[in-house]
Amino acid sequence: MKTSQNTLLITGGSAGIGFEIARLFASNYNQVIITGRDSDRLQQAAARIPHVTAIQSDVSQPEDVDQLVEQLWQDFPQLNIVVNNAGLAYVHSLSENTRTFDLAREEMLTNYLSTLRLNEKLLPLLKQQKEAAIVNVSSIVAFAPNHRLATYGASKAALHSYSLSLRLALAKTTAIRVFELMPPLVNTDFSQEIGGASGIPPSIVAEALLKAFEQDQYEIHVGRTADLYALSRSSPADALLAMNPMG
Ligand SMILES: NC(=O)c1ccc[n+]([C@@H]2O[C@H](COP(=O)([O-])OP(=O)(O)OC[C@H]3O[C@@H](n4cnc5c(N)ncnc54)[C@H](OP(=O)(O)O)[C@@H]3O)[C@@H](O)[C@H]2O)c1
Repeated sequence: MKTSQNTLLITGGSAGIGFEIARLFASNYNQVIITGRDSDRLQQAAARIPHVTAIQSDVSQPEDVDQLVEQLWQDFPQLNIVVNNAGLAYVHSLSENTRTFDLAREEMLTNYLSTLRLNEKLLPLLKQQKEAAIVNVSSIVAFAPNHRLATYGASKAALHSYSLSLRLALAKTTAIRVFELMPPLVNTDFSQEIGGASGIPPSIVAEALLKAFEQDQYEIHVGRTADLYALSRSSPADALLAMNPMG
């Protein structure tokens, strides 16, 4: 996959991993469009990246998605990469919580179902391009869950399974490549409640994506995800323990 002269849409590009992907790809001669819900945060982020386009849009809202897709057809008919990065997680206890269903529904909607919807709606545009890619941002927890993030882990496991199928389905009839970006703990706003300060910087995740494009490496195991993946194949029980240390 080429790493310059692309037009990318990055959902949730106003902070964290999405912002760093936007910054890196913009500096590498790509046209970048970022979305987010909070307009002020989005504008502030856009002001920090030359030539980026910011569009306020919530991936979980069907009307927002329809408007976004319409605007992309109109203003960016050359769009050839979609990065499904917007996501949310709730830290909660399956044994104590009484809101498991509601929290899981929100996570599934944002992290999993909204990705399906946006991809489905953008496929006709992507199919027109000579070279195109979909990047789904899942997580290390897609391989082995952490029980404090149980329902988040399940949403990312669903996204992982879907990404495998989407890759196969699109490879049969289109030129669209499907990448899955699987970060470990990353130091962003998102992860502070689970010790994110000790995570890797989001810029490392962005660099891993660029390198994976160069090498057409479709499943991207960033940092510790590579070790955890290997462990989950050789010993699923040890992988589960590694993600859920005792004490
Ligand atoms: N941080 C980690 O340790 C880690 C590890 C593995 C995977 N990930 C995954 O990486 C992705 C990015 O996480 P991050 O750590 O960079 O998070 P972050 O720093 O909290 O940034 C999230 C970004 O997504 C936007 N966003 C959230 N909900 C949205 C929605 N419904 N529609 C549109 N934009 C939305 C946020 O802006 P607004 O709030 O203004 O909308 C923000 O720009 C997520 O999918 C996450 O699951 C993170």
